[in-house]
Amino acid sequence: MPDLFSPFTLKGVTLRNRIAMSPMTMYRATDGKMSDFHIMLLGSRAAGGFGLVFPEQLAITEDGRTGTSCAGIYDDDQIEGLSRVTAIIKDMGSVPAAQLGHTGRKGSELKPWEGKRQLPPDHPDGWQTRGPSAITFGGRYTFPVHELSIDEIKDIHRAYASAARRALDAGFEWLEMHFAHGYLGASFFSPLANQRTDQYGGCLDNRLRFHREAMDAVRAVWPERLPLTMRLGSDDFNVDGVQFDDAVWAIGQLKDHGLDFADLSLGMNTDATMGIPWNDVGFMVERGARVRQEVGIPVGVSWNLGIPAFADRVIREQLIDLVFLGRPALANPHWPVWAARELAQNDPFSLIPEDWAWWLRSRPGPEGSLGWPPVQR
Ligand SMILES: Cc1cc2nc3c(=O)[nH]c(=O)nc-3n(C[C@H](O)[C@H](O)[C@H](O)COP(=O)(O)O)c2cc1C
Repeated sequence: MPDLFSPFTLKGVTLRNRIAMSPMTMYRATDGKMSDFHIMLLGSRAAGGFGLVFPEQLAITEDGRTGTSCAGIYDDDQIEGLSRVTAIIKDMGSVPAAQLGHTGRKGSELKPWEGKRQLPPDHPDGWQTRGPSAITFGGRYTFPVHELSIDEIKDIHRAYASAARRALDAGFEWLEMHFAHGYLGASFFSPLANQRTDQYGGCLDNRLRFHREAMDAVRAVWPERLPLTMRLGSDDFNVDGVQFDDAVWAIGQLKDHGLDFADLSLGMNTDATMGIPWNDVGFMVERGARVRQEVGIPVGVSWNLGIPAFADRVIREQLIDLVFLGRPALANPHWPVWAARELAQNDPFSLIPEDWAWWLRSRPGPEGSLGWPPVQR
């Protein structure tokens, strides 16, 4: 029976444990490029024991960023910074994963702490957003959306393939397509955002065409030996939006197009949601277990999984295969070591580099003096 600290192998890649640092946009890039900040952030999480480490969503086109300070993978000049990030992650014993995304009608945003609003297309840091249909999201996203033509959709698929090739050149070993959170992939899937009348809209099969073609374009350049995965907006929590049954069907379809693993998240295609249990522990786990069972594909989920005993239990009960941690990874770079200690694992420091762990093992000092209180049992 696996536990949180069991290795996990997918295709030719083995993670040292079941703990992934979830992608998190940090608004610290310049011209889409990563810098020392990202090396510090991601290298420290790899050194802290995470098995899989995602930098933030990487935009496949310039207008696919959330804001002008977000990272991209749309230009060869961005490869150097990304390579430095993958090198430190690997050096610390972890596997580097890239999340390819396009924010669609949710782009052109200010940094969240500078005001939750979208910038107009004529603002120096704004642009004309694009989506499956000319439907404005509403709420804080107020500006008209350009409906993509078929030629523009094909360009986006080519951009996915070029981005995948750059991810490979930069040394990533795991690739996730971001089709969640109201961004472009999520909007093509949702009837709330996609009201096209051509082959990319209407019935569920048509609303999945964008994703099938994107997967095919990427799989053609991304090697078979490396995992190709997807984060899907699996539920809009709105009666007129994506229903979870749609997602189960879609994941089965995409499995036939080279999908190796499903990371399930929320649709976020509308603010008019009903009943998202934001504060429930592990509220996506049950959905993940259903996909794992019915589609027969390995699964990971995020959302409120930072309690070690719970994270360990969902792996032991084989409900999901990987635990994705967002905010807990921001709060504690050593979350895996801390969790190993809480769960009474033998030698928690084996998760961090040996030349660092040696000091902690051989010079522990009195109980509690390393900065963590004694474990209560
Ligand atoms: C600061 C921040 C930035 C995020 N950026 C992304 C992102 O770039 N891509 C993505 O798929 N999810 C993003 N998320 C969502 C997280 O990856 C994760 O799914 C979510 O926070 C739930 O997990 P948690 O409960 O462990 O925080 C972000 C979350 C946070 C807190």
